[in-house]
Amino acid sequence: MDAFTYRQNELYCEDLPAEAIAEAVGTPCYVYSRRTITDHYDRLREAFAALDPLICYSIKSCGNISICRLLAERGAGMDLVSGGELHRALRAGVGAADCVYAGVGKTDQEIRRAIEAGIGWFNIESEAEFENISAIAREMNATCRGALRINPDVDPRTHRYTTTGKKETKFGVDLERARAAFQKYGHDAHCRLSGIHLHLGSPIYSADPYVESIHKVLALMDELNREESIEIEMLDLGGGFGANYTTDQSPLAADYAREIVPLLEDRVRNGLKIVLEPGRTIMGNAGILLTRVLYVKTSGEKTFAICDGGMNVLLRPSHYDAFHFIWPARVAAEHTPERREKDMAMPGLVPIDVVGPICETGDFLAIDRPLPPVERGDLLAVFTAGAYGMVMASRYNAMPLPAEALVDGDQVKIIRERESLDDLLAHELTPRTVDVTAARPTS
Ligand code: LLP
Repeated sequence: MDAFTYRQNELYCEDLPAEAIAEAVGTPCYVYSRRTITDHYDRLREAFAALDPLICYSIKSCGNISICRLLAERGAGMDLVSGGELHRALRAGVGAADCVYAGVGKTDQEIRRAIEAGIGWFNIESEAEFENISAIAREMNATCRGALRINPDVDPRTHRYTTTGKKETKFGVDLERARAAFQKYGHDAHCRLSGIHLHLGSPIYSADPYVESIHKVLALMDELNREESIEIEMLDLGGGFGANYTTDQSPLAADYAREIVPLLEDRVRNGLKIVLEPGRTIMGNAGILLTRVLYVKTSGEKTFAICDGGMNVLLRPSHYDAFHFIWPARVAAEHTPERREKDMAMPGLVPIDVVGPICETGDFLAIDRPLPPVERGDLLAVFTAGAYGMVMASRYNAMPLPAEALVDGDQVKIIRERESLDDLLAHELTPRTVDVTAARPTS
């Protein structure tokens, strides 16, 4: 599952004790395992080999440039949702042609830059966006390719904040509108609308929603071909494959592939290009958050472990009520965890609220969590924090962003320095007057 394992009652990240990393890097910090990242990527590639997909790593899950570089070196393209992510991908050495660019709110400037860079595909979320991209390409005397994001109204059975493929969400267009959009724009000269994009939600712990939506879009593709002479060249299945927040919670890449590959193999033989956009399934279990207990406080029935990182470094528990397994990096022999479960059945555990330093009651990493007793100075590891961890961290309460470190065997590199207090002020120290009489830029 990953390279974060207990040896002799002590947590190791690959071949390094977590405690040694925390001492060298400071806390809170994110620690990633190179071996786990490459393993997850390689397994996905092997599982879907029969479709020869372009694997576009979803930068939004963990955008650190060293991690983007690592995946780019293995042949990954990137899935982007902003000009910032395009910039990151290009700086990481990814070819723009291997990038797909989704997102409901692309600005004109972002679209222009993406066309200039030679973006592989725009994943287009509405008719209005299509018209804008086409107009900008015409203005630039350029051509580009578009995939229409279809919202197949399939329930991925995940948190409502991360459900995207249902009718009532802001993403994509429904099947009816997709048919009409292909009829209207399918032969556009500047933006060649010849792909279909799906992204149903995240995480999705079953292949069924993929299967259901693939059936729906294949039927549409055949109809477009028959009735409009429109050939769909590319089908992007999006992201959403799960991660193991608890042991064996998620299907493996091979389990998803077993259901999906047979539906598409023939199409691929006939020239259809498949794109995948995995984020969490690569990075989720490839990173942990290390945070130190500053104080232990009891209040009535409650025991709080107050840590140096909370919702400011890992937002998922307070934002989605998400479960992250948390365990001390050093434990007594009887508390060495064999599995990561919500309710660990071991003698001597006590219910603890693991909270952060932020001035909000909603600032927690876990509530009433059975844990070995903890003391001031103990190091806690928050598991499965590699995806949607650091990228959603904030500077709330003037907390500098944490450091990120990448472990490779018995070596560790800081791949993002902890921010300094001066970094917090960097954009505020020289106020300047702006000329409001100048023409307002369009984007
Ligand atoms: N493609 C598109 C168009 C997406 O919007 C996303 C994620 C992905 C791919 C990657 O999905 P993944 O393979 O990582 O499941 N912050 C939330 C997750 C938001 C997902 C947003 N879109 C969380 O912490 O659970």
